[in-house]
Amino acid sequence: MHVVVGATGATGSVLVRELLRRGEKVRAVNRSGRVGLPDVELNGVEFIRANASDADQMTEICAGATAVYHCVRPPLPEWLELYPRVQQALISAAGTAGAVLVFADDTWMYGRVDRPMTEDMPYRPVAHLGLIRAWLAEMTLAAHHRGDVRVAIARAGELYGPKVESLFGSTMFAGKRPIWFGDPDLPITPTYIDDFATTMITLAGEPDAWGEVWHVPSSEPTTARRFAELAGRAAVRAMPTTAAKALGLVSTVARHGNQVLYQFEQPFIVDSTRFTSQFGGTASDLREGIAASLRWHRQNPRRSLLPS
Ligand SMILES: NC(=O)c1ccc[n+]([C@@H]2O[C@H](COP(=O)([O-])OP(=O)(O)OC[C@H]3O[C@@H](n4cnc5c(N)ncnc54)[C@H](OP(=O)(O)O)[C@@H]3O)[C@@H](O)[C@H]2O)c1
Repeated sequence: MHVVVGATGATGSVLVRELLRRGEKVRAVNRSGRVGLPDVELNGVEFIRANASDADQMTEICAGATAVYHCVRPPLPEWLELYPRVQQALISAAGTAGAVLVFADDTWMYGRVDRPMTEDMPYRPVAHLGLIRAWLAEMTLAAHHRGDVRVAIARAGELYGPKVESLFGSTMFAGKRPIWFGDPDLPITPTYIDDFATTMITLAGEPDAWGEVWHVPSSEPTTARRFAELAGRAAVRAMPTTAAKALGLVSTVARHGNQVLYQFEQPFIVDSTRFTSQFGGTASDLREGIAASLRWHRQNPRRSLLPS
């Protein structure tokens, strides 16, 4: 039995669908109880409304699981209060069940870098969100090395695809014209949401991967300008990251998000050679991923996170 926590989010909903396709038994958890997945994706899934920071409840829900997928992403302003508690609860629940815990992670713990990001890179977070990510990763790996639980960490680059909220994931597909904070001509590595989910499933089934961090197979680096062109959008309007500070005065989410805009002022290259040379696999085709994202946005029109 596979437990997906954060099952209705961008990553979690792909995981649920893919596990079902592979004939697995799935228990799906989210906080709001709002499911919002097509009926066909619900067939055979046991949905449970629960707060992932509740260790006792998570232990009950994970009993009997072989794998627990942690795809929880609380709203940014709640990260400091909630994320460490969620991490601890899922470490403890997966450990008690004897299940492997696979954590969906990002790259904010690396901070400012001057070379492609690799899994052995030291953590030098420059913002409190990055510091929290470093803390979560250390907490997770330490639990593995203590023997409390078996874990694997999957790290994505700039995520895009249906449902994804990120500058690539939403701003590029919504609004009249894509806006980019930072330099739109710097290299950036797009990770397609399906590749994130299938990598997590691979890691759950590969004992050799446990206790380690793995970068998800991603497209060759492109640029924000090129990404918008491929999506057939109007030319990107580039804004200095300082302009985002003004948005932060009126939006709490923008105020938190501003901290990680540094990543668009440096080459954002995520090297996934380690995963592909050990387990194989390739990234989804960028054009096909963009086409699927456009289809989803047409069916689920959303306002851009930014004014365009
Ligand atoms: N989005 C990105 O750009 C990006 C990039 C790289 C890595 N990641 C990482 O990948 C992971 C998944 O991200 P995502 O973009 O797929 O997330 P998402 O679409 O925002 O979905 C978040 C999910 O977490 C659930 N959730 C939030 N707080 C919860 C709680 N306290 N208890 C139970 N469920 C809770 C939400 O359920 P409700 O809606 O019911 O609250 C939802 O199902 C996160 O660790 C994220 O940091 C994301």
